[in-house]
Amino acid sequence: MIKKKLSKNAKKVDQFLINFIKKQNYSLLVKPMKYGVISGGKKIRSTIIFDTGKIFNIREKSLVNICAAVECIHSYSLIHDDLPCMDNDTIRRGKPSTHIKFGEASAVLAGSSLLTLAFEIIADKKYLINSEIKNEIIKSLASCSGHTGIAGGQELDLKFENKKKKLKQIIDMQKKKTGKLFNFCLFAVAAIAKKNYKEKKFLSNLGEEIGLLFQFADDFLDNKGSRKLIGKPVKKDKKKGKSTLLNLMGENKAYLYANNLKKKILRKLKKHGKKAKDLTNTIEFILERKF
Ligand code: IPE
Ligand code: IPE
Ligand code: MG
Ligand code: MG
Ligand code: MG
Repeated sequence: MIKKKLSKNAKKVDQFLINFIKKQNYSLLVKPMKYGVISGGKKIRSTIIFDTGKIFNIREKSLVNICAAVECIHSYSLIHDDLPCMDNDTIRRGKPSTHIKFGEASAVLAGSSLLTLAFEIIADKKYLINSEIKNEIIKSLASCSGHTGIAGGQELDLKFENKKKKLKQIIDMQKKKTGKLFNFCLFAVAAIAKKNYKEKKFLSNLGEEIGLLFQFADDFLDNKGSRKLIGKPVKKDKKKGKSTLLNLMGENKAYLYANNLKKKILRKLKKHGKKAKDLTNTIEFILERKF
């Protein structure tokens, strides 16, 4: 079920990206960019955007630009994450990482270009949403991606290698490197749905917790997952001395902690009743997923 939903959403977003890039002038970076972004990722963030849209009756057509922008930023972060100066991983989504296929310089430049493409996609004049809301969305995407978000979290992730860190520090790092982009996903939908400040804040925080749960699951899969199913190397976090919940408290306690977080998230969604069914299912999938 979830597999079908994910691949249906992936197709929509990939097609949008193909069309968008086709309309731009060609450059040498198009190939590595497409290799990095239209390359079989799960598109879980797009799915969460569409699922949240259902809660507020927002049509997919008004959300696809947001999905495409988020996937560009996510894929940029992975291209850079795999570089030798970061996690030094050679396989991503079951294929050679972008820098292995195209070289480091092209991977860095394609990654940066995906980061800026995200903003072009939202700022596009054909994306017809209220310009004040558009501005608010652009601002949030910037702060969730930069030093207060993904980039800042990635810096902490690397600085924390082989160090003994407290639970609070690990959570802060993971909320930044992964949570913030999920924060943006829910925030953007809330902004388009014209929700008030309080509700936007509530949904942003909820998004961040969903992202944290997603990173916990990613760390569990590194330890126990199948290389074939996740399409990337396993058992590397321990070798690299990554500070994770798993390394801090061991498998059982870490899973209990994650499961409590999942329950907390689901409780917060209760007030939306049936309308939150799709999002609830996606959250259940996040912790139990095998890929
Ligand atoms: C992997 O993200 C990196 C994390 C932030 C945990 P995904 O598991 O969403 O990667 P793809 O897009 O499906 O390959
Ligand atoms: C990546 O975390 C988080 C990013 C923001 C890129 P990981 O380093 O654990 O992601 P994988 O396991 O390489 O996909
Ligand atoms: Mg990393
Ligand atoms: Mg990595
Ligand atoms: Mg990982």
